[in-house]
Amino acid sequence: MLALIKKWFRGAKIDANLVSSTGDIPRHVAVIMDGNGRWAKAHGMPRVLGHRRGVSVVKKMAILADSLGVKYLTLYSFSTENWKRPKPEVDYLMSLPREFLIKELDELIEKNVKIQMIGFREGLPKDTLDAVEEAERKTANNDGLILSFAFNYGSRKEMTLAMQAMFADFQAGNLAKTEITDELYSSYLLTRSMPDPDLLIRTSGELRISNFMMWQLAYTELWFTDVYWPDFSEQHFCDAIAEYQRRVRRYGAL
Ligand code: FPP
Repeated sequence: MLALIKKWFRGAKIDANLVSSTGDIPRHVAVIMDGNGRWAKAHGMPRVLGHRRGVSVVKKMAILADSLGVKYLTLYSFSTENWKRPKPEVDYLMSLPREFLIKELDELIEKNVKIQMIGFREGLPKDTLDAVEEAERKTANNDGLILSFAFNYGSRKEMTLAMQAMFADFQAGNLAKTEITDELYSSYLLTRSMPDPDLLIRTSGELRISNFMMWQLAYTELWFTDVYWPDFSEQHFCDAIAEYQRRVRRYGAL
């Protein structure tokens, strides 16, 4: 691991001593990528250019996370509440997965990254869904970093639908009340194939969860920065990991 980190750091001008090679690297990092609109405003640009700039940060973070040994990187890319935005902005946000994949999929395949979407597929434009599902198919057997886009995702809807599915199984006689446990409930969620996040990063100075993985974040370490997502750099990601390594996780025990 030390060699890997050193190798990565040689190519990037960031502080190599920050992330401890003997420290615990979070297995699952989740990110609320916030502040694209404010970044654009601060630069006198239309909001969508903030989103465009935000996309360019995604690949950098995926490659860094993979180099550091993070196994799962989950990015909150479009929430079930984002449909409330003006249509031109929603349309632009809907076009981003396809744009990103056209540009980056080959390199991500080369790097053995597995791409998946967690979120509600109904209601998404066909070309967006086609692009995402093609990427999922092409990377299904990769066993490197698992890069998940939480797209048209909302935790309350996810939990409500999980409860409905459990109730249907109960009514069909396939589930007994006593079989309902934390673990079983987790298996009804969209994140069923992933461990809970170890670290949540939120950019842009907002200090809230915003309907993101509320069940899964129960014991996640939270890390906030004022930096807007388009300015989020490898150094910031390493700062977050280094801070995570200084935390003591007790899960309610002593
Ligand atoms: C929040 O910033 C960000 C979003 C709603 C979209 C985030 C999406 C990306 C960074 C790109 C995703 C990339 C792919 C490949 C799908 P905001 O618009 O709420 O910013 P503001 O709070 O400053 O207005």
